[in-house]
Amino acid sequence: MLTEKIELLKPNMYKTPVNITSSFIDAAIEVAINKLLENRDRLTTFTPPETINYKYEKRDNDVEWTSGLNTGVLWLAWELSGERCFYDAAKAQIKTYFPRFEKKTGLMNHDVGFIFTPSVVADYKLTGDRSSRELALAAAEHLSTCWSEKVGYVRRGMGTWPGGYRTLVDTMMNIPLLLWAGKESGNDEYTKKAISHYNNTAKYLVRADGSTYHHFQFDPQTEEPVGGLTLQGFSDESCWSRGHSWLVYGYPIAYSYTKDESILDVYRGVTYHLLNNLPSDYIPYWDLIFGEGSGQPRDASAAAVSVCGLLEMCKYLDDGDSDKEIYRNAADKMMKSLIQKCANLDSERDGLLAHVTHALPQGRGIDESAIYGDYFYLEALLRYKNPDWKMYW
Ligand code: GLY
Repeated sequence: MLTEKIELLKPNMYKTPVNITSSFIDAAIEVAINKLLENRDRLTTFTPPETINYKYEKRDNDVEWTSGLNTGVLWLAWELSGERCFYDAAKAQIKTYFPRFEKKTGLMNHDVGFIFTPSVVADYKLTGDRSSRELALAAAEHLSTCWSEKVGYVRRGMGTWPGGYRTLVDTMMNIPLLLWAGKESGNDEYTKKAISHYNNTAKYLVRADGSTYHHFQFDPQTEEPVGGLTLQGFSDESCWSRGHSWLVYGYPIAYSYTKDESILDVYRGVTYHLLNNLPSDYIPYWDLIFGEGSGQPRDASAAAVSVCGLLEMCKYLDDGDSDKEIYRNAADKMMKSLIQKCANLDSERDGLLAHVTHALPQGRGIDESAIYGDYFYLEALLRYKNPDWKMYW
C-alpha cells in the first residue's frame, strides 16, 4: 500500500510542454493504417500475443488473452480511416466470440475483460449491436464468478488451482468489463466488485514507494495474504514496466466510472514512480529497475498503455491542477518518442509498434511487436486525433 509521499525526481523532464501537431499525428496514423491495409488479406485472422522475428503467426480466436485486442485494432482502424474493410473484418471476428464463450475456451480466468471489452463491448458501443450487448453482459457475469468472497478481488483463475488465488496488476484492465456491465445493466453488484478489486489492488499490489508487484499470492486454504511475486518482471521485488502501466491506465478507467477521489492519490504515486524511472527518451526498459544506459530491451507497449491512461486521467483534472500539467507533458513526450523511435516503418516487419518486450523471463517476444502494443499505440493516436473519442473500456 502506498504510504510514502512520492516526489517527482526529475521535474525538468515533465515541466515543459512539447508541441504535438495534428500533422505529426496524421502522418503517424497514415503509416499505421497503410501497414494494416498492406496486410488486408489477413485482417480477419487472429494472432498470438507477440511476433516472432517481427512476424505474426495466424491463430483462431481460441485460447489467447489478447484476442480482443486483435478485434480492437480493427475497430480503431475503422474509426481512424473510415475504411469499410476494417468494419467488415471486425464484424467477421465478432462472430467467433459467441462459440468461444459457449465453450469457455481460455475463459476460466481473469482475462475475460481483456478479451470481451475492446471487441464485443466496442461493437455494441460503436454499432449498437444488441447480440454483442447480451454476449458482453454474459461475459461480465462469468468474470464476476472468478471472485474471492473473503478478500474481495477477481482471482487469477477459477477453480481450486493454488496459483489461481492471486491478484495481478494485469487484472485492472479486466475490471472495466464489470464497471461497464454495472452501468449498462443497472446491477450494482458488478460495480461493487470492481471497486473492491481496485481497492485491493492498491492494498496488495502497490508498494509503499508507488512501485508495484506483478502478482500477489493468497493462501489457497485460508485466503490469508502470502506475498508479492513476479512472472514477467526481473524479480519479485522489481517493478515490471507493462504490468505497472496496466495501473497507469486501469485507474483512470475506473475513475471515469466511479469518480472515486481516493483513486487520485494512488494514481499519483504509481504514475510518479513510472515517470521517475523513465530514461531520457521516455520509453521504459522492460522492467523499471533498469535505468539509463542499462542496454536492456525496451517495452514500448508500456509507454503506449501509459499514454492512454495519462490522457484519460487529464480529462478529469482541473486546468490549474499541477498533476494535470505533468501527466499531459509526460503523455506528449512519450507519444513523440513512440512515433519517432518505435513506429514500425519496415515493410518486411509485421506490427505497428516495434521495441515491445512480451515476456523476457520466458524468452518470448524480446524487442518485437505485440498485438497489445499495436492496439494501445493506435488507441493513443486516436486519442490525439479526437480528444472526445469514446472509450471502448
Ligand atoms: N498478461 C498481460 C501482459 O502480458 O501484459
